[in-house]
Amino acid sequence: MRPTCVRLLLLALTAAAAVAETADTDQTCASPVLPDVSDTTWGDEPHVLVTGGAGYIGSHTVLLLLEAGYQVTVVDNLVNSNPESLNRVAELTGKGDHLKFFNLDTADGPGLAHLLGAMPSPPILCIHFAGLKAVGESTQIPLLYYGNNVGGTVVLLEELQKAGVRRIIFSSSATVYGNAVAPITEDSPVGQGITNAYGRSKYVIEEILNDFAKSPNGQEWGMVILRYFNPVGAHPSGRIGEDPSGKPNNLMPFVSQVAVGRRPHLSVYGDDYDTPDGTGVRDYIHVMDLAEGHLAALRLLEKQPVGTHTVNLGTGSGYSVLDMVAAMKSSCECEVPYKIEARRPGDLATVYAATDKAKELLGWTAKLDLKTMCDDLWRWQSTNPQGYGELAAYPRGA
Ligand SMILES: NC(=O)c1ccc[n+]([C@@H]2O[C@H](COP(=O)([O-])OP(=O)(O)OC[C@H]3O[C@@H](n4cnc5c(N)ncnc54)[C@H](O)[C@@H]3O)[C@@H](O)[C@H]2O)c1
Repeated sequence: MRPTCVRLLLLALTAAAAVAETADTDQTCASPVLPDVSDTTWGDEPHVLVTGGAGYIGSHTVLLLLEAGYQVTVVDNLVNSNPESLNRVAELTGKGDHLKFFNLDTADGPGLAHLLGAMPSPPILCIHFAGLKAVGESTQIPLLYYGNNVGGTVVLLEELQKAGVRRIIFSSSATVYGNAVAPITEDSPVGQGITNAYGRSKYVIEEILNDFAKSPNGQEWGMVILRYFNPVGAHPSGRIGEDPSGKPNNLMPFVSQVAVGRRPHLSVYGDDYDTPDGTGVRDYIHVMDLAEGHLAALRLLEKQPVGTHTVNLGTGSGYSVLDMVAAMKSSCECEVPYKIEARRPGDLATVYAATDKAKELLGWTAKLDLKTMCDDLWRWQSTNPQGYGELAAYPRGA
């Protein structure tokens, strides 16, 4: 299939997943619309390409990149985000002139080629956040997840290679560990017991990166695969945060929406696990710590431009669902009603990271505690009860 056709196929898959495999994609492949780069100029500062940079983790990382003096170009198709996040990043940093945004799909090879070709020199590195991440949805429309996450990454790698970019930081997930036993080290088994297409798409991308790294072209590359545990919280200003479209898939956005009155109660799946209070235990990490982890990975690649590293980003501590509910109640000074439901198939009792490798290799450890995670999340949720609201333009008024 031609890469330009992938996005159109993905859209077809969303609308009609059941019949998409038989769609005649070539008939739908009109000439691609190339990104308009006519008014864009890039400065001399080191320049980072960020896919998925309008999203939750991406926007917080873009903020830190700008604060650290990098120029940033965001590529995002807005399938799960609102560029208002970038307007607010520009406001918070005062560096909107260093931040460019293009509404572009990572599977759009000609679009990426056009954009990268317009830059005076290749970005020093790509941070690749773009991906679909709803675990439940991925079991219903797995082809969309493989097409978007895996297909989009392959096209991106091809275009980066052609454009002379040789370094990438990839957003992977603790999900790749499947049913591995905590504390989970980077050497714990991966790819076994993964129960959904989302997790397997991350595992497949890791395998692709590792295969590519061994190839003649790939041997010139520096790659850091970051396996995130459970990102929560928001920027301390409360101006940017997680804005899930529809029903949240992760615990804390759901808890905060219950706290703010958008949802009547939280469902807690299982209270008979072998954990202190019977509910599932996970490793929650503040999104600002996570974003700092990307800067640490970037600095590693600046020092060691070649080679592949895989690193956990977690705190090394676990909190139960009821711990998280109690912490949010304390931050919001409100009730968070919940109901105990049956366990969900595939859920594990306890998952938390071993963090030694992140400390040794990246010189990075998570610093922010549970109270800060919930206070910051509540500041974002209570001042933006409907998230970013209507879809905005970046820059505003454009
Ligand atoms: N949030 C988590 O709990 C978590 C945990 C582990 C890993 N991750 C991974 O981290 C990355 C960022 O997660 P997030 O929580 O910020 O999610 P997010 O949905 O907020 O951000 C992802 C961004 O990618 C964009 N996107 C998706 N597909 C795209 C495509 N084909 N082309 C261009 N843009 C595209 C979306 O519009 C969105 O802005 C994802 O790859 C996710 O799988 C997230």
